[in-house]
Amino acid sequence: MTFLEVKDLHVSIDGKEILSGLNLKVEKGEVHAIMGPNGSGKSTLANAILGHPKYNVESGDILVKGESILDLPTDQRARKGIFLGFQYPTEISGVGYSHFLRNAYNTLNKEDKTREVFLTVREFHEYVKKNLDAVGLDKSFLGRYLNEGFSGGEKKRSEVMQMLVLKPNIAILDEPDSGLDIDAVKAVAEAINKLIETGAGVIVITHYARILRYLTKLDHVHVVAKGKVIKSGGKELSEELEAKGYGWLGIEDDK
Ligand SMILES: Nc1ncnc2c1ncn2[C@@H]1O[C@H](COP(=O)(O)OP(=O)(O)O)[C@@H](O)[C@H]1O
Ligand SMILES: [Mg+2]
Repeated sequence: MTFLEVKDLHVSIDGKEILSGLNLKVEKGEVHAIMGPNGSGKSTLANAILGHPKYNVESGDILVKGESILDLPTDQRARKGIFLGFQYPTEISGVGYSHFLRNAYNTLNKEDKTREVFLTVREFHEYVKKNLDAVGLDKSFLGRYLNEGFSGGEKKRSEVMQMLVLKPNIAILDEPDSGLDIDAVKAVAEAINKLIETGAGVIVITHYARILRYLTKLDHVHVVAKGKVIKSGGKELSEELEAKGYGWLGIEDDK
């Protein structure tokens, strides 16, 4: 049974239709890229999958292993192993990074007998430290407030670091490469590769083929325009888009 299925999804924000019949199927172990012009609905799709209250599902369905998750609050969707790395991570002053991440980990994993449990803060920090190293952040970040004062690049590294810590079944990464220099793009791609090794499914939303070239696996590339998938293909489609833009598909590059 398909792990994650988005079926003829229609989503509106403040009464305006943004997604207009979007279909997508993602299995564990598959890597998908979603590309498309600005404003086409890519982040809306990501937010709708996680149940952001501003995004109203008008019709269609989102299913995990054949069961609709539309009635579930965000935390229960996360417990099914769905992770969202934000396009614009929010700074949350007063929420300690280490505290936040350990609570998230424990909450997600306490009922899962197959997962390690870290009983002490020290053990947890050792586990997190490996993942900080993987993305090139030092451990002083754990002593800071969540995203507060992080540079753009540090926020992006931090999102994929959280993904490695939480080990989702399906990770949705919304422009994990935006605003990053080449070295940071590589570090982020390598973190994604680590997750791919665990057998997770990954959806990378991006404008650029660059990050996709560093991935050890890329099964499907989808182009979203005006709230729908208008074309799907393999890796070569991402290269074609990078070279030619979106014009040849009959859609504009930007709104
Ligand atoms: N919170 C919001 N309130 C109002 N309009 C929104 C909101 N989020 C997105 N939109 C609108 O929905 C459309 C799709 O946005 P988005 O999903 O962010 O596109 P993409 O991620 O593909 O660039 C845009 O026209 C955008 O202005
Ligand atoms: Mg977006």
